[in-house]
Amino acid sequence: MTTAASMPVLDKGLANTIAAESAMSFIDGQNGILEYVGIDIDALARNSTFEEVVYLLWHRKLPTRGELDAFASGIRAEYDLPEVMWDVIKTIPTSAAPMHALRTLVSALALSDPEADDPSPAANERKGVRLLAKAPALIANFDRHRKGRDFIKPDSSLSIASAFLTMLNGQEPTETMAKALDVCLILHADHGFNASTFAALVTISTLSDMYSAVTTAIGTLKGPLHGGANEAVMHMLTEIGQMDRVEPYIREKLDRKERVMGFGHRVYKAYDPRASYLKTFAERLAEDTGNRELYEMSRRIDQIMHEAVAAKGIHPNVDFYSATTYYSIGLDIDLFTPMFVMSRIGGWVGHCIEQLADNKLIRPRCEYIGPHEAAYVPIEGR
Ligand code: COA
Repeated sequence: MTTAASMPVLDKGLANTIAAESAMSFIDGQNGILEYVGIDIDALARNSTFEEVVYLLWHRKLPTRGELDAFASGIRAEYDLPEVMWDVIKTIPTSAAPMHALRTLVSALALSDPEADDPSPAANERKGVRLLAKAPALIANFDRHRKGRDFIKPDSSLSIASAFLTMLNGQEPTETMAKALDVCLILHADHGFNASTFAALVTISTLSDMYSAVTTAIGTLKGPLHGGANEAVMHMLTEIGQMDRVEPYIREKLDRKERVMGFGHRVYKAYDPRASYLKTFAERLAEDTGNRELYEMSRRIDQIMHEAVAAKGIHPNVDFYSATTYYSIGLDIDLFTPMFVMSRIGGWVGHCIEQLADNKLIRPRCEYIGPHEAAYVPIEGR
């Protein structure tokens, strides 16, 4: 018998559904607050490192010096790829989009991990470390492969951000560039039950495995309404091209009721706190790298959007200023979303571990609106 309390409610997009409990990130969309395990995102972006933030998300506390050193060296020890993966990278067409390549490569990591189907919490954390540690080598070396360059192995004396940029560019990054990427990794690491995290949880809740969960999440993150928005922002800035075209371009877009990429958020109806930090950071980076014009164009778009739609609760989201940040550190546009993956693996794995500690199969229902008692007509008679 269905009681009133257990009566399912139609909630398209699940915006009003709380599907589980989590102690990782807290979002107050009305007031523009984001905390990881209670710590304000601004304090983390200013003072922490990506490795420390992942420890915080997975262990729900800041590490001591000894704990952080052990955690970071555990990650560094896993930077290198299994031998077969270098051959797998070579089999991917050089024309493939990096997100398709990355989804395939992360899935392929499972093939040579003897622990792939070990469901124990310790094995799951080890797989989380491997995924986090190996993603930079996969992304950077796929990029080298498509550009006809030789592979570069990861340098285990470097942080995740520096090791990635060194593989990508063949030289160690400046401190400013490594810090810029590290900040972006911190800001993207977790964000409640966003679409890709939810997708990962649906997969892990069937007691599948960590590689499958992260592969699912990558496919979900790829869409332009989610992680793909940062690439769309950069394409928009490139299309606009120069400052005097900003205003007509944005106004025409709004008149046609089209979406301006990098604005709006399902949860934030105030300024996204990640965008607030990145806005200041992107300005400093633009000064340092001489990309001031792009930054000024972004500021102008922000102003026009503020006048036009802020009253509707539409503000820049994290993707808006991360696009110019990534561009300033010299990343190709189609590598922006893979940067999001590199970071969000921290969140996905943490949520999967949390889900498995108190697992319940995630299986919502739909409201059937099709016909009933329809006749089966043989194919000749249709
Ligand atoms: N530009 C212009 N108008 C926008 C907008 C944008 N980026 N985002 C939302 N709106 C408008 C919608 O047109 C709608 O207007 P209406 O009520 O007059 O029809 C209203 O705001 C609500 O939009 P809705 O799509 O219902 O909100 P949502 O919570 O489902 O959507 C997003 C959230 C993120 C999907 C949406 O804001 C969006 O498409 N943004 C652009 C893509 C992006 O930057 N994604 C990254 C998210 S981190």
